[in-house]
Amino acid sequence: MKKRQIIMVGFMQAQNCSNYPASWRHVESSTDFMTPHYYRRIARALEDGKFHFGFFDDRLALPDIFASDHSVALKHGIRVVKMDPIPILATMAMHTKHLGLAATLSTTYYGPYHIARTMMTLDHMCGGRAGWNVVTSLNDSEAFNMGAKETIQHDKRYDRADDMMRSVVDMWNAWQPDAIVCDKQTGLFADPTKVTRTEHNGEWFQTSGTFTVPPSPQGHPVIIQAGQSGRGKTFAAEWGEVIFTIQNDLDQAKKVRREMRREAEQLGRDPDTLAIAPAFYVTVGETQSIAEDKYAYIDSLAKPEDALVLLSEVLNFDFSRKQLDEPFSDDELDSINGLRGILDKVVRLSGKKNPSLADFLEHSGRGTVREAPHLVGDAKTIADTLEKWFVEGGADGYVMFAPHTPGAYEEFSRFVVPELQRRGVYHKDYKGTTLRENLGLSGYRTRA
Ligand SMILES: Cc1cc2nc3c(=O)[nH]c(=O)nc-3n(C[C@H](O)[C@H](O)[C@H](O)COP(=O)(O)O)c2cc1C
Repeated sequence: MKKRQIIMVGFMQAQNCSNYPASWRHVESSTDFMTPHYYRRIARALEDGKFHFGFFDDRLALPDIFASDHSVALKHGIRVVKMDPIPILATMAMHTKHLGLAATLSTTYYGPYHIARTMMTLDHMCGGRAGWNVVTSLNDSEAFNMGAKETIQHDKRYDRADDMMRSVVDMWNAWQPDAIVCDKQTGLFADPTKVTRTEHNGEWFQTSGTFTVPPSPQGHPVIIQAGQSGRGKTFAAEWGEVIFTIQNDLDQAKKVRREMRREAEQLGRDPDTLAIAPAFYVTVGETQSIAEDKYAYIDSLAKPEDALVLLSEVLNFDFSRKQLDEPFSDDELDSINGLRGILDKVVRLSGKKNPSLADFLEHSGRGTVREAPHLVGDAKTIADTLEKWFVEGGADGYVMFAPHTPGAYEEFSRFVVPELQRRGVYHKDYKGTTLRENLGLSGYRTRA
């Protein structure tokens, strides 16, 4: 039987901070985040640590729902710079050999041909190392930037995404791998019998045409997903090869992994073709007390505004309208059309059907370094937890959130990775040339 090993993913931002908004205030954070040098350094750190891939989280607007204004977000630097991930990934590809490179693209705002072509082109340009984090977007700010009147209702966004996936996967499979002949003597470029015109007649998309990018060395980019709500999880179980989650404890992580695998199986998939990767923050030090001092400093950088601005953004609801202890009414909760997964989590952890603003702040962890479990300690302590979750069935791998960049990735690669390798739960080197080979997955979709 094939030996299971941990899959490691670096959660990156093409922004002025990591997903921890206060990270830009960290003394060690680089401020050259609009230069190729910054992203090269991250790419090098991840590849030094044999991370399977790095991926750029993305949103198509800065957070301006809080108090219906962008001032607070800009003043405090709350994830306000957002560059396009694709050109940055192309730059990173030129400075790495093995690291997988994934981008987030929204099924709500880009068309199937645009996504299919962009992602397949990226996959060629990095020699079969690309991945696509499929998201459905979440708030009205994105809708306004993209020329729509408002965001589509939560579950309908996933219906649209399903339709999009069928169209995209058909395009990706339009060319048989040996369709290109390129024979200069006979003048035959491609065998037309090996290229299929795709016709898609879905509820949301009707596309008809012949796709223009032949398959990449790994067939097509690896599909990544992170749905957390009921509808979102079904979508992830149907399409995701790598599935990101956020779990507070091992029991919950085990339950979610079991459920996701079962759901995938019910949908006709082999559950071993998907990898479940919970997120965590890590602060590592030479000793436990050094790590704890570092954590205390990192934690102290957050400002109350960070959480309020980011909760408003992600739930598509202006939190400036609520008092701290005032419960949300049923109507208000029904109107929340952003990430339902976060709302479900706050209801579950607070034990309240109608949580208050204070409950959202406490249980979502948004804007802080407690949004996902934060591992603090020396390399051994951190490796203990990562090994335990992996061995006991809570995870196939992990998404690492960086409390500051690029330093946190460098420290993880330097301290924690050798410890995991010593225990045999993490690869010593990349095994293949493509991302899908390195992940050990065989979830290539040949038909929608
Ligand atoms: C690790 C991780 C990364 C994510 N990256 C993005 C992203 O880049 N852009 C985005 O709009 N949503 C992102 N999401 C949100 C998910 O796609 C999903 O919407 C969310 O987990 C809530 O689930 P739901 O859509 O089923 O309510 C991410 C979620 C997780 C856990």
